Amino acid sequence: MDVFEKPKILLEQYATSAHIASHMLYTAQSQFNDIEGKSIADLGSGCGILSLGAKMLGAEYVVGFEIDSDAVNIQYRNCTDIELFVEIVQCDILQYLPGKFEKCFDTVIMNPPFGTKKNAGIDMKFLEVAMRLSSNAVYSLHKSSTRDYVLSKAAQLGAEGRVIAELRYDLPKAYKFHKKASVDIQVDFIRFELKR
Ligand SMILES: C[S@@+](CC[C@H](N)C(=O)[O-])C[C@H]1O[C@@H](n2cnc3c(N)ncnc32)[C@H](O)[C@@H]1O
Repeated sequence: MDVFEKPKILLEQYATSAHIASHMLYTAQSQFNDIEGKSIADLGSGCGILSLGAKMLGAEYVVGFEIDSDAVNIQYRNCTDIELFVEIVQCDILQYLPGKFEKCFDTVIMNPPFGTKKNAGIDMKFLEVAMRLSSNAVYSLHKSSTRDYVLSKAAQLGAEGRVIAELRYDLPKAYKFHKKASVDIQVDFIRFELKR
């Protein structure tokens, strides 16, 4: 699949690798039955790897929400290339989604922006929106260093979080003053089960 051509650093545009995306989705389906036949939302869907992967695994209905028109165009191209149909809504999920589609999706999957100095806490804002959209489970990636905070905040919001895997995530260089071309960071793959 095509990925970001000119990644926008402020939007934290780094694509989930095929390796990580396939493991996330395969685990969600094989261990929890959360993909096949389900309605799925992908928040910050980027070039569509999680949306299209979910569709490949038999999701009934998939909607990707993405702020950036260039990413939406790439996702659209990827859909056409592999002949799979998913909906894509171009929007700022923090502005557009609150108050809409509450509990309309069985499962939400996402690789949210982790939050830089300029937008610290954005991953938790994504998580809050995701929990409102989902009636059952949310799958997300978060920096392992924030694990205790993420799990306790999720509990306050009415979800039980469980770390399913600890990943090493290859984050590309974001700023000129960063010396290395990429760094490996510790990332948790977490399943949040919503209490009914
Ligand atoms: C880490 S990338 C993940 C992209 C894709 N889901 C993937 O797994 O490869 C985060 C994505 O969130 C998008 N994004 C950032 N802020 C957003 C917002 N407020 N509303 C919607 N999308 C946003 C970015 O443009 C980017 O595509």
